[in-house]
Amino acid sequence: MDTNAFFRQATLCICSTLDIQAAMERSFQFIKDYLPVDRMSLDLLDTDRNALHLVAAVPSMKALGQMIALPEEGREDRAFHWASSEKIRIENLTDPEPSARRLLKRFGLSSPVSLIFMRLEIEGNRIGQLVLVANGFNRFTEEHARLLQLLNEPFAIAMANALKHQEVLKLQDMLADDNRYLQRQLQEISGMEIIGADFGLKSILDMVRQVASLDSPVLLLGETGVGKGVLANTIHQLSRRRDGPTITVNCGAIPDTLLDSELFGHEKGAFTGAVTQKRGRFERAHTGTIFLDEIGELPPQAQVRLLHVLQNREIERVGGNRPIPVDIRIISATHRNLEEMIAAGQFREDLWFRLNVFPIMIPPLRQRKEDIPALVHHFIERKAREIKIRERPRLAPGAIDRLIAYNWPGNIRELENMVERALIQHRSGNLLIDPPLPSAKAPLKTAEAAPGSISMPSLEEITGDHIRQALKLAKGKINGPAGAAELLKIHPNTLRKKMDRLAIPYGKKNRRE
Ligand SMILES: Nc1ncnc2c1ncn2[C@@H]1O[C@H](COP(=O)(O)OP(=O)(O)OP(=O)(O)O)[C@@H](O)[C@H]1O
Ligand SMILES: [Mg+2]
Repeated sequence: MDTNAFFRQATLCICSTLDIQAAMERSFQFIKDYLPVDRMSLDLLDTDRNALHLVAAVPSMKALGQMIALPEEGREDRAFHWASSEKIRIENLTDPEPSARRLLKRFGLSSPVSLIFMRLEIEGNRIGQLVLVANGFNRFTEEHARLLQLLNEPFAIAMANALKHQEVLKLQDMLADDNRYLQRQLQEISGMEIIGADFGLKSILDMVRQVASLDSPVLLLGETGVGKGVLANTIHQLSRRRDGPTITVNCGAIPDTLLDSELFGHEKGAFTGAVTQKRGRFERAHTGTIFLDEIGELPPQAQVRLLHVLQNREIERVGGNRPIPVDIRIISATHRNLEEMIAAGQFREDLWFRLNVFPIMIPPLRQRKEDIPALVHHFIERKAREIKIRERPRLAPGAIDRLIAYNWPGNIRELENMVERALIQHRSGNLLIDPPLPSAKAPLKTAEAAPGSISMPSLEEITGDHIRQALKLAKGKINGPAGAAELLKIHPNTLRKKMDRLAIPYGKKNRRE
């Protein structure tokens, strides 16, 4: 018999697949022409539990996946604890002794039976054993054992590979699961309520709804802190890509030298320090949305490469030599005037054409002051929860008036920070939110030059506006829960008196319900 051919053929069967059960079945079919084998099984040694774990068996059996606890070291066990110098051992079981009984039971066999145990090792470490079983007494010879011993290494390697593969699959499942969980959490955090959706931001939200379902690029324009980030997230949430990733790139925050590798990824060894392969943000955003924040800060070289991505819908990793297709929706944002930047040669016009397909200009807070009361209450509620203040503080009298009078250069972010600061300073009692005086910076100089020229709304005008705003929010209702009086925290009669004085109409005919 040609042992080389036997080894080669058997190894091909054993290593033909990563599915260990299938590999066992194939090798069993082959081996049974050479050895009188009726059953074959593969056990993994679980050192932590001191147990044998049945990972594959031919014919397949119920016990698959089960563990058998091993006896203490040193106790007689003919099925496992044999001299460590022996790699293979022939055993005949006639009248089963206790130690052998569970083995036969596991195989569903009755005595007498013949067995060969083969210890499987990798680099000197015992990882498991292969067991061959034949019905009847004394069926295996030394020659059989010698032949099987040839296959020791292929079986050990196949088993180790299959186990690693199973581990990888398990990790992959866990990662995918973690990923879904984190995405959901992110959505919960960022999928926050949009305040002003029915008031100051109504027309903007209408545009957002219109464009969300399409795949067209969106360009969000507006001053710092107006909510560009919030709207980018809303567009993603309302789109068919909502289950895909949403990846943000702050184009101004990544150093030039790292930008390419951050955006497009790199291959292992592409440059010093590239010790592993890395996927870039475009690749990570595949099937989802990429949000390019502060697009005006993108350096010229990166503008060229971004244009390439937009035109070809594919990226190339640094040091890579094949294009990788990406299916992404691009939302970009800037507080800068891109047209001026184009005129000054700082921004590519061809890139701007591609990004500016659906521009949305978010108005600054000073142009939608009607949203201020709701925003203030929203932030008090949220921040109080965040910093764990149990009792919601009440606004100090006149606070809303002052907030409405202020012109908010830092927009909603500034308001949010101001509320947070006030909450930290006044953890109980009346909440004093004190914005700087209206238009404190610029007009102050004028005031020094010509005191009489400051133009400022009177207190009555502001109070009037504020009451109208509350009425609008309360849909004209004055008394009761969610009525204007409650919103303004004054007695309904006091409110009516003020309204009379300011000539603000109320009553049934003015109700909008
Ligand atoms: N309509 C809104 N409702 C509730 N919160 C908002 C709204 N708009 C903005 N915010 C909050 O205001 C803060 C600033 O918003 P965001 O970061 O989206 O602004 P931005 O325009 O991206 O600002 P920047 O240009 O400085 O990055 C955030 O904390 C956000 O949660
Ligand atoms: Mg932002």
